[in-house]
Amino acid sequence: MNLMLMGLPGAGKGTQAERIVDQYKIPHISTGDIFRAAIKNETPMGLKAKGFIDKGELVPDEVTNGIVKERLTKDDTKNGYLLDGFPRNMVQAKALDEIGQELDRKLTGVINIHVDPDSLLERLTGRYICRKCGATYHKVFNPTKVEGVCDRCGGKEFFQREDDKPETVKNRLDVNIKMNTPLLDFYKQKNILHEVNGNQEIQKVFADVKEILDNLK
Ligand code: AP5
Ligand code: MG
Ligand code: ZN
Repeated sequence: MNLMLMGLPGAGKGTQAERIVDQYKIPHISTGDIFRAAIKNETPMGLKAKGFIDKGELVPDEVTNGIVKERLTKDDTKNGYLLDGFPRNMVQAKALDEIGQELDRKLTGVINIHVDPDSLLERLTGRYICRKCGATYHKVFNPTKVEGVCDRCGGKEFFQREDDKPETVKNRLDVNIKMNTPLLDFYKQKNILHEVNGNQEIQKVFADVKEILDNLK
């Protein structure tokens, strides 16, 4: 299964990706996570990306396309992969088509997590992430089982994302809403688009995702 998760900022791409990769044993490729790791390590690519991410803008296509291509040449993607947050515009979608062709890794399914935009600000401002393993939580909707301890790895340190400040969130939403419709049309025409209602509890969203993926296998 060569998959892609679509959804506005806060729709639950990362949250569902954690569950999908556990269940189907395919690697999770999140361009946002790759950029944040590069920023943390202060690599040249990270320094370049930081200026865009802090404003809620997209990182330039040539940088992002190059990263994804390099990642998809790795052997662990041979039996499937899960892209999260890429492609985000038509230039990237066409680049992925070419990469998929060239590497024999064509997309076989796209899942769009549809969420009412009004609920996204609350999701993003309440999000916190385990510093050790990257698991995502929410102070109201998905807290850790034991307060202050990561369910997955037992880590005790958490952080909030720099770009989850309300001012940045607004621009991230505007930027992504604009790009979304042509992408959805593109994958609908290819007959690989599946819609999921993201305005439900996390476990219910995952049950719907699982039903789709079990039919794709
Ligand atoms: P990226 O990291 O991809 O951020 P994003 O698209 O803004 O999406 P998020 O990660 O914020 O949301 P999510 O859908 O993963 O939600 P989550 O599961 O965490 O990208 C960041 C930046 O990097 C971009 O702005 C851009 O600058 C750059 N970038 C990345 N890819 C790029 C590309 N292809 N091209 C150019 N630039 C790129 O959930 C959110 C919260 O809600 C959590 O707290 C969670 O617990 C909670 N939650 C999840 N599901 C539910 C539910 N069903 N009910 C209630 N709460 C829920
Ligand atoms: Mg995410
Ligand atoms: Zn953890």
